[in-house]
Amino acid sequence: MRGRKRWSNDALLWNGFPFRCLWFVVQLFMGQAQELNWGKTIDVAGRQRMLTQRMSKEFLQVALDIDAADNRGRMLGSINLFNVSLYQLINGDSVTGIVGTPNHLVGSGLDEVVSLWKPFSQLLLNNVDTIRDASGFVDMNIISMVEAQNVPVLVKSNVVVGRLVDAAQSAGAPTNGLVVDTAGRQRMLIQRMCKEALLIGLGSSITTNVGRLKGTQLLFLNSHAGIVEGATWAGVPVLNKLCTMHQMREVTYNMQVFSPLLNQILNAHTASESQNIANSLAKQISDMSVPLFSSMVRAVQLYVNDADECDPAASMGSTDWQDLLLRTDELLLLEEQANQYYLQIGNAVRVATSQVGLVVTLNTILDAIDNLVQGNKGLNILAPPSQAALDGLLAAKSQWDELQLAYEPAVSNINAVTAVEVTKIDRLGTAFQSRLLEIVNMYETVAFEVRTTTSPSPLSDPVVVREVPIHTIQVAHQQKANAAKIASVANLVAYSNGSSDDFGGVDLVNQTRDNFIATHYSLLEGKPATGLFPAIAEEHSVCAIRQMQDIYTDFVAVDRYAQEGKTNPLMLGPLADAVEKVITKYTAVIDYYKQGSIACSNRSYVLAEWELLIEAVGSLRSLTQEACADYILATQGTEPIFQERSDRSMAALLAAFRALAYGTDTLPAPPSQSIFDQVINKVKPAFDLFIVAVTEANTMNVVLQGDNVAVQGTEVKRLYFDQALSTLASFPVGRLEAGQDQQFRVNQMVKLSFMFIYDITATTTTLQNSIAEFDAVHLMLKDGGPDIPAIVDQRDDLLTQWSRVDGKWKELKQLLLTRSVADVPNLQATKDILIEEMIVLQGLFAIPDQPVAETFPWMFVAYGAMGLFLLSCACGAVYIHFVSRRKKSTQNQNGWSQA
Ligand SMILES: *[C@@H]1O[C@H](CO)[C@@H](O)[C@H](O)[C@H]1NC(C)=O
Ligand SMILES: *[C@@H]1O[C@H](CO)[C@@H](O)[C@H](O)[C@H]1NC(C)=O
Ligand SMILES: *[C@@H]1O[C@H](CO)[C@@H](O)[C@H](O)[C@H]1NC(C)=O
Ligand SMILES: *[C@@H]1O[C@H](CO)[C@@H](O)[C@H](O)[C@H]1NC(C)=O
Repeated sequence: MRGRKRWSNDALLWNGFPFRCLWFVVQLFMGQAQELNWGKTIDVAGRQRMLTQRMSKEFLQVALDIDAADNRGRMLGSINLFNVSLYQLINGDSVTGIVGTPNHLVGSGLDEVVSLWKPFSQLLLNNVDTIRDASGFVDMNIISMVEAQNVPVLVKSNVVVGRLVDAAQSAGAPTNGLVVDTAGRQRMLIQRMCKEALLIGLGSSITTNVGRLKGTQLLFLNSHAGIVEGATWAGVPVLNKLCTMHQMREVTYNMQVFSPLLNQILNAHTASESQNIANSLAKQISDMSVPLFSSMVRAVQLYVNDADECDPAASMGSTDWQDLLLRTDELLLLEEQANQYYLQIGNAVRVATSQVGLVVTLNTILDAIDNLVQGNKGLNILAPPSQAALDGLLAAKSQWDELQLAYEPAVSNINAVTAVEVTKIDRLGTAFQSRLLEIVNMYETVAFEVRTTTSPSPLSDPVVVREVPIHTIQVAHQQKANAAKIASVANLVAYSNGSSDDFGGVDLVNQTRDNFIATHYSLLEGKPATGLFPAIAEEHSVCAIRQMQDIYTDFVAVDRYAQEGKTNPLMLGPLADAVEKVITKYTAVIDYYKQGSIACSNRSYVLAEWELLIEAVGSLRSLTQEACADYILATQGTEPIFQERSDRSMAALLAAFRALAYGTDTLPAPPSQSIFDQVINKVKPAFDLFIVAVTEANTMNVVLQGDNVAVQGTEVKRLYFDQALSTLASFPVGRLEAGQDQQFRVNQMVKLSFMFIYDITATTTTLQNSIAEFDAVHLMLKDGGPDIPAIVDQRDDLLTQWSRVDGKWKELKQLLLTRSVADVPNLQATKDILIEEMIVLQGLFAIPDQPVAETFPWMFVAYGAMGLFLLSCACGAVYIHFVSRRKKSTQNQNGWSQA
């Protein structure tokens, strides 16, 4: 701005020189100064059009007795301004830089204006005091004359503007004359719409004026869109100036308030109805036009010269940035969904639904992107905070325009999806997304910085002390996009007949899936702050955990359908459903992050679920022993296979911990807040210490911490049994628990044996105690004991399986105390088989001895519950699941001591 002013003053100095040709030469090198003069000239000439309409409007306002005295005064002001400007345009004006009559075309145009102006101004001046008499009578003859004469003055003034624009262009001025002209005309159109509405209100040529009003409104709206979005075919560029854009957001908003008033007049069914409505709205229309007009006047000034003197970012708080951030993230999801629908059409998957989905999504994206580029005051959306953001969004918008054109044919024609088009859309989509990501990054940088360096926005509700975890919301939102991406990539692979060569050897479905799952656990377990991103808090609400478990279950289906869908398009329909479920359910999670509370599904768990939960904690405890045993082998032994095995059991232990805390697709989340608290506050810290010990490679400490995890698990196990018993009157505790504990003991004994073999411990006392405990419980499982019924005669199946366990156990017992490194592989193998046999036995134990009758209440509950949970099966089928999981065992809560 400073620079421009200086050039402009220099130009005036030069103007005083006698050598005018030299002045022109200098002007050639000082395009900016010339631009300002021409721009100003065109602006003033354009304003004349507005003034003809404004003075007419003001005259009509007097006639309608709307603020008569004020409007009379305003009319005189308008007339004077028109008159002064007219003679400036004729003669030039060095103070304002107005170019006077640059050629004879403009000159003759101005002459015509003068000849119409003289009688018209007299008409207004002579009648304004008498147009409405004391009794309210309005002289309609005068009104008709005003109606007839104002437009010719306008038309001639407009001709002058057009000729000035031409003159500016032929003078070589790099002027944005057409835009300034169009923007300037908007001021006139506002006055004109008012004038026409008032004429209708007065009953003057109603039908004609209704038609004119409709036309004026349409022209205004089209021009408004044109000067913002550009009409490149007409030479109107896209608006790319930050301050002008912000000002146009105001104009848009004021128009959104003003325009519906006109629509009421336009929508009336009869002329007299139009008149009545116009009459009753006359005052409101007059009032509402004021903010619209003044915001447009300011906008025109910026169209003439946007000197970049606004700083919208300065007044933005963190919530403003966050809002823009999330809205940009939303676009990424929408684009992924558009892509999904498009490819579904190509794969002939639910064509009608996909086409509707595509068309809706395309429109949503267009609105969303326009709202980001232009802001939307009505929806409380800010315009871009910086020129860089505006530039980025405009680039994204033009990429979207191209992408939309590519998508659109598929809306009505399934054959429009071709291999060539798919490739093109893939390329355009990737470019569009990376552009959006740049903007997201730009917003993140400030959104999170603002968050840490300033206090909350003063506008925010002081009652709300809780800070909304915006980064967490953002991550949850990205999960939606990840889910949609899996669908779109699976569709892409299916479309290319199952070949995924196009992705440079990377399986994008799997990559996205793995990313989704890693993020899933970040949201549950929390994640430390990295770089500019704030930390994600660990989740503590069991209700949120349940919702996430529900999502996880749907997501497992997403993955399954996606894998199958790569080669079998029939799976792509169910894939779309599953993805939609995940996206919908994440909305509840995001609401929870925003509000801090979430509704809990408060159903009680059925028997089969309790069994799964108890099995999960047993599995965790057993795995601590197995992981330690395998860890000892991997660190003491030499065979590489030991390391692999150890890695596997470590991974299994982590999975078991996560399953216990957060559930899986088959395992419910913890049933109550108190149990979840126990897992998070007791088991998790122990588990973390175990991981630390492994990282530090301190074998003794690994063993110690492993045992501690098992101990903490015992407490969870007790809570489970207690709650299961209180929920289900008769729960088969004895055998289940004893069986689990036996599995724990087997793994524990093998671990102790390894410790002995590799000299980590010198005594076998503990090992021998465990052997004795195992033997005792082993016999009880056959002959009965406290809480454990004996195997009855008709249960041959139990007896046979018990004997198989017995045989393997005897083998293992032989090996446990040999203290020979050579026996290690054999020990390991024997243990694995023994555990498998024990799992089978455990499954058989869960089948009650005498189905139905006798123990009626328990049976009723058990079968009813299982029937609900697993539609198809008999009790044994539940345990197929048990068999599929490898290890388990628990410690008896009734007095069996922990080794
Ligand atoms: C317009 O300005 C001219 C010249 O200054 C003056 O003679 C004329 O009276 C003015 N007309 C009106 C309507 O003010
Ligand atoms: C997939 O296979 C079908 C039929 O075998 C063929 O018409 C189509 O062109 C193939 N598509 C691609 C992308 O290779
Ligand atoms: C992707 O994941 C599936 C299912 O987990 C697996 O079967 C497949 O081998 C994986 N593909 C690649 C290329 O890793
Ligand atoms: C479930 O409902 C019971 C009673 O109906 C209530 O006491 C308990 O707090 C609820 N639990 C949750 C997690 O909403």
